[in-house]
Amino acid sequence: PLPVILDGDPGLDDAIAWLLAFASPQELNVLALTTVHGNVGLDRTTRNAGVTLALAGADVPVYAGADRPLLRPLATAAEFHGESGLPAAGLPEPSRGPEAEHAVNFIAQAVRARPGEVTLVATGPLTNVALAFRLAPDLPALVREVVWMGGSTGEGNRTPAAEFNAFADPHAAQIVLTSGAPVRMFGLNVTMQAVATPERVERLRGLGNRAGRISAELLTFYAGIYRERYGLSGGALHDPLAVAAAIRPELCRMQPMNVQVETHEGLNFGRTVCDLYGVTGKPANVQVAVGVDHEAFFGLLLERVGRLG
Ligand code: BDR
Ligand code: CA
Repeated sequence: PLPVILDGDPGLDDAIAWLLAFASPQELNVLALTTVHGNVGLDRTTRNAGVTLALAGADVPVYAGADRPLLRPLATAAEFHGESGLPAAGLPEPSRGPEAEHAVNFIAQAVRARPGEVTLVATGPLTNVALAFRLAPDLPALVREVVWMGGSTGEGNRTPAAEFNAFADPHAAQIVLTSGAPVRMFGLNVTMQAVATPERVERLRGLGNRAGRISAELLTFYAGIYRERYGLSGGALHDPLAVAAAIRPELCRMQPMNVQVETHEGLNFGRTVCDLYGVTGKPANVQVAVGVDHEAFFGLLLERVGRLG
């Protein structure tokens, strides 16, 4: 199995993404969870990492990372994820608290210990990954890959131009995308097609296990906001799609292209500017997901969540 570090900001879709990862031990060997500011504050995302471990019945270390973006002020998304980040009743207590070491130090050591082997699956703002790349400039050449849920080839969700994870730390995203590390990006242009429809939510609930029931409850909360905001029948499974693509790359059609993140404040602040048609002549730095088999993706998610106790 692929050694992976799961870096994110749980956040309900991060938590479901991490359940998917833990339920896939044949494909993924989760080395640790690293947490970052994002949907809610770092204290909550770190606590929620421990809760997710308990839900998955897994035991790996949790490292807390950056509590704020590099330059811009903190931006959260509690509206979509509830004040706690995990809006469900009957959640277990965290089975682990954070280690004393900072996430960024852990990432640097773990990648250096296995040159060319470790994949960073990032489902939040890229602050930790950017800091690790600055702390250890050899890292971009040593990671196997960065798999990131963030950005978009088109529209944004936090602003008309910017997706939340990109908007929450555009400077970090620009550092990572232009670092020379192999990056696969799963943006809104594909994740907004991976919708947790009421029928899919019922199938998760119908699994009959705790992970399925809690996932269904989280997605029911989420659906309310997606219905109201976007007129969609359910919430988009953004982060689970990135983890699914780490498990099964063929779920998404990829296209290499040049991607730069707008770091100047203004209408496009935080936009991932994707050179879809190669008009700049600049070399491709990112493999961008441009198509998704959302039925196959959901089938995988359902099957894997069903494996949990
Ligand atoms: C991303 O933003 C967060 O709210 C979600 O967890 C996901 O990572 C989608 O834009
Ligand atoms: Ca996230």
